[in-house]
Amino acid sequence: MIGDAVHCAPAQTPASRSAPARPPVPPRLTPYGLRCEHRRTPLGVGEPRPLLSWRLASARAGDDPVAYELEVGDWSSGRVEDPAAIGAVYGGPPLLPRTRYGWRVTVWARDGAAGSAESWFETGQDVWQASWIAHDPAAVAHMDPPTEGEQALSHHGLLPCPQLRTSFESTAGVTRARLLISAKGLYEARVNGHRVGDAELAPGWTDYRRRIQYQVHDVTPFLLDGENVLAATVADGWWSGFTGFDPRRPGYHYGRFPELIAELHLTFDDGSTRVVATGEGWRTGHGRVRYGDLLKGECHDARAETPGWDLPGFDDSSWRPAVVTGDDHSLLVASRDEPVRALGELLPISTVLVRPGVHLVDFGQNIAGRVRLAVRDQEPGRRVTVRHGETLDGEDRLHTANLRTADATDVLITAGGVEEVFEPRFTYHGFRYAEVSGLDRLDDIRAVVLHSDTPWTGTFDCSDPEVNRLHDNIGWGQRGNFVSVPTDCPQRDERLGWLADAQVFLPTACFNADVSGFFSKWMRDVVDAQSPEGGFSNVAPLLSGVADEGAPGWADAGVLVPWHLYRVYGDDRFLDVDSMVRWVDFVARHNPDLIWRHRTGPHFADWLAPGPATPREVLATAFFHRSAALTAEAARVRGRHGEAERLGALADRVRAAFVEAFVGDGGLVEGDTQTGYLLALAFDLLTPEQSRGAAARLAALVEESGPQTGFLGVNLLCPVLSAHGRDDLAHALLRRTDPPSWLYQVRHGATTVWERWDGVGAPSMNSFNHYAFGSIGEWLYSGVAGIDQAPGSVAFREVVIRPLPGDLSRACARYESARGLISVSWHNDAEGFRLETRIPPGATATVHLPGGDIRRVTSGDHIFELVRGDKA
Ligand code: BGC
Repeated sequence: MIGDAVHCAPAQTPASRSAPARPPVPPRLTPYGLRCEHRRTPLGVGEPRPLLSWRLASARAGDDPVAYELEVGDWSSGRVEDPAAIGAVYGGPPLLPRTRYGWRVTVWARDGAAGSAESWFETGQDVWQASWIAHDPAAVAHMDPPTEGEQALSHHGLLPCPQLRTSFESTAGVTRARLLISAKGLYEARVNGHRVGDAELAPGWTDYRRRIQYQVHDVTPFLLDGENVLAATVADGWWSGFTGFDPRRPGYHYGRFPELIAELHLTFDDGSTRVVATGEGWRTGHGRVRYGDLLKGECHDARAETPGWDLPGFDDSSWRPAVVTGDDHSLLVASRDEPVRALGELLPISTVLVRPGVHLVDFGQNIAGRVRLAVRDQEPGRRVTVRHGETLDGEDRLHTANLRTADATDVLITAGGVEEVFEPRFTYHGFRYAEVSGLDRLDDIRAVVLHSDTPWTGTFDCSDPEVNRLHDNIGWGQRGNFVSVPTDCPQRDERLGWLADAQVFLPTACFNADVSGFFSKWMRDVVDAQSPEGGFSNVAPLLSGVADEGAPGWADAGVLVPWHLYRVYGDDRFLDVDSMVRWVDFVARHNPDLIWRHRTGPHFADWLAPGPATPREVLATAFFHRSAALTAEAARVRGRHGEAERLGALADRVRAAFVEAFVGDGGLVEGDTQTGYLLALAFDLLTPEQSRGAAARLAALVEESGPQTGFLGVNLLCPVLSAHGRDDLAHALLRRTDPPSWLYQVRHGATTVWERWDGVGAPSMNSFNHYAFGSIGEWLYSGVAGIDQAPGSVAFREVVIRPLPGDLSRACARYESARGLISVSWHNDAEGFRLETRIPPGATATVHLPGGDIRRVTSGDHIFELVRGDKA
């Protein structure tokens, strides 16, 4: 039965280039899915003692590990008796820079049989020799004679994207070539005409005043015997372009103009080495990209193309010397995450000529990305404009009011000729529709889906197609908003790493995809944004113009996010206890009576709640308790027992203060709102008796008016209702179609989750791709399908299978957990209930069957049947 026992629809689209092909289940205990620092075969690992991890599979039930051995190069951990291990930190001698290390893990099963698997990683470097270089923007005016129509192309003061190049001689016999590269801004590198790597929007967004990630690319196949060219185009990106809603640039957020740094390390077959680095001697000029901006869009003038500029033999004598802008390498760090990549393409579902020369294209799906189109047989100088929108005004006009100042407009000036392909490179947009003007014919256009490469790990399917569409919409919202950082939305002039949005959506995100590397990078951004006083922020990376003192539920993400990552991935290095303690002490210091009323930043309250407002102090104090309690737990995990005790006691005192101030007879929580009860129940603030009263009151409020929460309660609605015996109500909420509800959006054609429950609001604050309300996704996996872990369990060592069928007739989910595959498939009808489940090696599971029957099972495949009705 293994291999076929559990079926579930595959993920709707390939969401990751690095997703491991699903391996056939091996007959005996075998490690697979090997990772170094949460990434598959990374180049440029910066961690001196990287974490090496693996998943486990076996076709035999109860085939659990007892020990492992890790071998890295010449170093071995020896046999380590640890039945829970799914990873270990390298413990050998210091790793050399820019070196490939092969590694192997061997895992022993209880019966002595061993299984092993191999992988590799390459280290990065700390010591750089390259200089930062740039095209001096002051020289732009004198640089290129303006092309025809240049005035028309100048846009919001954006400048042409500089091309930078150098050439060097090499001999044959290059055995290895690695390009280490970064930019203040964005880069696209080329070696001898070949595009380097497949990263988009690299090096990604960080607070560049604190940290700049570099990437490493293998360019060995591109090297030539004789003259070689190393080249790059750079663009403003988040560094010096329009970023967020504050329109001040350049130089307001981070920098004034883009800069490049790169080192090409060559190793020859005789063992000799050579480095080609950015610095004196590089040349710079402009080409077709007249500007490229994340929010405004990108303009190519194909007439200004500089053919062969990235190839040997190009005459760059008319170009200027690149300006060396500095030698500071102190902020350069190796990337911790996989980059943004182009991870899918969509063909239009309709293309309509709505006005002469104007086509409206519907891609059928709201995404983040851009359009690629082919232009044929046009005369030179024709202006082709691509505008983007998530929805339409009327039948044939883009709705752009919700983009605010993000023009999201790309322009091509044609060079003429048989065929030109246009795809912007330094921008992205949130859209379903594109309006293309300037062409009489449009027959080759597609949408390119961009997002951070996070291997997809979850699938869910059930008997209600509308719920399945909701699940798909949640996944698309995740793709569209995980673009280098977790953003609130991909379309308007915002796209910021808002902490609460990420915090409430994280549990859903972790089921859908392996986001360990993505959040390992973002948690650095969060800690970078922490104030010297200890306050976490509202957005990370931090940028000017956004209130940086964190609000309740936003700033607390600095504790809630790492705690959840630790529980899901089992990597306790996520728990940066120092930063967490500084946060809790900051709130405590300013609120000596333990009711959090001071230093609440811009207090966003229960953002976008349609119902009655939850009192601000109730919300804030509940989060204060949660942060204190989880920080105490984190300190305990990291062996900081004194801290654990101190903060545990603080959490107890905050709970007492909360109850004293806000909890009345029968568990009534001040304000009498859904979110008030949800937080009190989920954050363990009440006695069992108070909980019963609070849960009953919550249920009554939900029955009365459907969901009334904003961002801070929505993720808890269904989990808390079902934890308190009301999965009937949780299902009723899930299946509800009146506003406010999830399926109301689905019924109204949503292909992503909306910012507002009903999609109605001021146009400037009405995004159709905001994932916070999509945080019900967690409960589809953990509630409806029934894949969860026990409260004290880490990395799904103690799985809980507790399906909640409601009145669905079937559901299934597969989840590639950090330990291995967990799957559930159930059918429920008048005749009975049948459940199939798979539990990975090294885990045990408690299976809760409808009707109250509870079974303990080992790893492996299990089938349960409850017969009812006539057959009983
Ligand atoms: C964003 C939200 C964010 C909020 C803070 C909004 O503009 O879109 O998602 O969390 O500001 O209240």
